[in-house]
Amino acid sequence: MSSTKQQSMWLLIVAMAAMVIFAACEPGDPGRSTGSYPIDIFQEMHYNQSVKAQEPPRFSAPEDSIPVSGGYIAAPAKADAADLVNPLAGDANALERGALLYKQNCSMCHGATAGGDGYVWVKFGDYPAPTPPEFASVRITQLTPGEAYASVSNGAGFMPSFQGLLNEADRWALVSLIEATAAERTAALNAVNTVAAGETDIENEIKRALRLNELRAN
Ligand code: HEC
Repeated sequence: MSSTKQQSMWLLIVAMAAMVIFAACEPGDPGRSTGSYPIDIFQEMHYNQSVKAQEPPRFSAPEDSIPVSGGYIAAPAKADAADLVNPLAGDANALERGALLYKQNCSMCHGATAGGDGYVWVKFGDYPAPTPPEFASVRITQLTPGEAYASVSNGAGFMPSFQGLLNEADRWALVSLIEATAAERTAALNAVNTVAAGETDIENEIKRALRLNELRAN
């Protein structure tokens, strides 16, 4: 190899190393990351223009509003969260809201009706780590609402943290789904999963997104 070739080879290696290091310096940049992963080499799909383009329009902020971008108030650790009270307890829509959010954010791991059989985990079936528990399992039913909230917010093992992606009320709605009886939960998730006769998956997806927006606006 000629020395110029060798030099450019080294330059390339140094440039690539620098890219990785600088990329790693930006976890949690709220403009392009939820902070869920310690190293963000590429921005998360959620912040991609092609995903953003499909999001529903947003109303502009009221005149006197103050920008609060830049983060979220961190949820307490699981050990300190046992006594937190679910502010959505008694909210008639909380279960449906939780089911809609579950379909988008959790079902790929925890399964379509929370049976612990999501397609992501089936693919990684031989992986030597705890699998996503079934929501009806002892492990999950013995969590207090506050502990479930802390685990969804902070993540657990291979489960990512959701506090940068879902606001507090959304996470509490998921806790309502976790706290529901197995029969109520299965019914709510089946309703969300069902595609009506003559309707396409995409039509169902759009209906779900609109309904979620409606529930969030209340
Ligand atoms: C990437 C796959 C994945 C996704 C997505 C995921 N989970 Fe999990 N979840 C897991 C795994 C794996 C565990 C077990 C972690 C362990 O034991 O190390 C777990 C554990 C849990 C627990 C028990 C935590 C505890 O403290 O015992 C709850 C509750 C839970 N998940 C709820 C949810 C909810 C709600 C969502 C959607 C917002 C979700 N999960 C999304 C994989 C996932």
